[in-house]
Amino acid sequence: MSERKRIFSGMQPTGALTLGNYLGALKNWAQLQDEYDSIFCVVDLHALTIRREPARLRADSLSLLAQYIACGIDPEKNILFLQSHVSAHAELSWILNCYTYMGELGRMTQFKEKSARHQDNINAGLFTYPVLMAADILLYQTDLVPVGGDQKQHLELARDIAERFNGIYGDVFKVPEPYIPKVGARIMSLQEPTSKMSKSDENENAYITLLDPPDAVIRKFKRAVTDSEASVRFDQENKPGISNLMTIYSSVTGKTYDEIEREFEGKGYGDFKLAVGEAVVEALKPVQGRYNELMSSRDYLTEIARKGAETAEYLANKTLRKVYKKIGLVPRP
Ligand code: TYM
Repeated sequence: MSERKRIFSGMQPTGALTLGNYLGALKNWAQLQDEYDSIFCVVDLHALTIRREPARLRADSLSLLAQYIACGIDPEKNILFLQSHVSAHAELSWILNCYTYMGELGRMTQFKEKSARHQDNINAGLFTYPVLMAADILLYQTDLVPVGGDQKQHLELARDIAERFNGIYGDVFKVPEPYIPKVGARIMSLQEPTSKMSKSDENENAYITLLDPPDAVIRKFKRAVTDSEASVRFDQENKPGISNLMTIYSSVTGKTYDEIEREFEGKGYGDFKLAVGEAVVEALKPVQGRYNELMSSRDYLTEIARKGAETAEYLANKTLRKVYKKIGLVPRP
């Protein structure tokens, strides 16, 4: 790899990505890939914190790789791989566990939310999840991590762990910076616009996935919860539904909030919702076309994952060896 700055990011293989995953993160990966050396991972080990059907997890992992590529991530320019193929992730994660405090992990909002939602399975992996994420990032001496707003706290923890480790052993890890978009960092549910758009929502109308057919996209936007004022105006606090639709429309079309307000002045919410739906359908059309092609060439996908893991492993092991040495583990003879 060259001397360019490095990006690392990943997503969990839990089926079709949502519009939130796309606008909050993946769209930026695609935009940054020409400027940075980029490593994009399918974080299959993270997905184990929630009980999954093995066949489903396997299918979702390759599908996620195809979704990355379909969204414009060039497999020739970037390293794409599956987390479980590079054992250094699990190894560094164990070590960093020993440099992370229970109190820090207990403060993580996502842990609190997830453990409230899955009371029957509050496993230790759910608790140490952010440490594995720190290992992902720190293994590659990452400069920048493009993620949505909900990952900011995890990233701050990764920075704290890196600084703590460097404080003891010298400069081992690069301390990474988050890259969170100004518009689209937090795409909200279409049904309950004060909570995050999430695939785990029981109500299918609450989220759009990248693989939703056009009629489903239009229907979901038509049903989106708004307010009774009938004026397209950005006001996150008092008009969360309309503001969320404006964010989506702005992210997809590149129009500013002022331009959108002018475009829909004097028009009803029906017109606006339809316009947002149509813009999203247009944006998803090429993605879905490419996705379908990729899914019919499984060998191509597995070859990308194989090559990606090889390069990732080389880079990751360089850092891991340095860590082992610094902390006093005897090098393998
Ligand atoms: P995950 O799989 O939950 O989400 C993947 C990415 O999508 C972003 N995102 C959103 N952005 C805006 N609005 C939303 N409603 C929305 N929902 C999700 C997330 O912020 C994320 O960027 N822990 C991570 C995966 C991970 C990772 C890493 C990321 C593991 N290791 C190393 C970066 C670097 C996660 O669960 O993301």
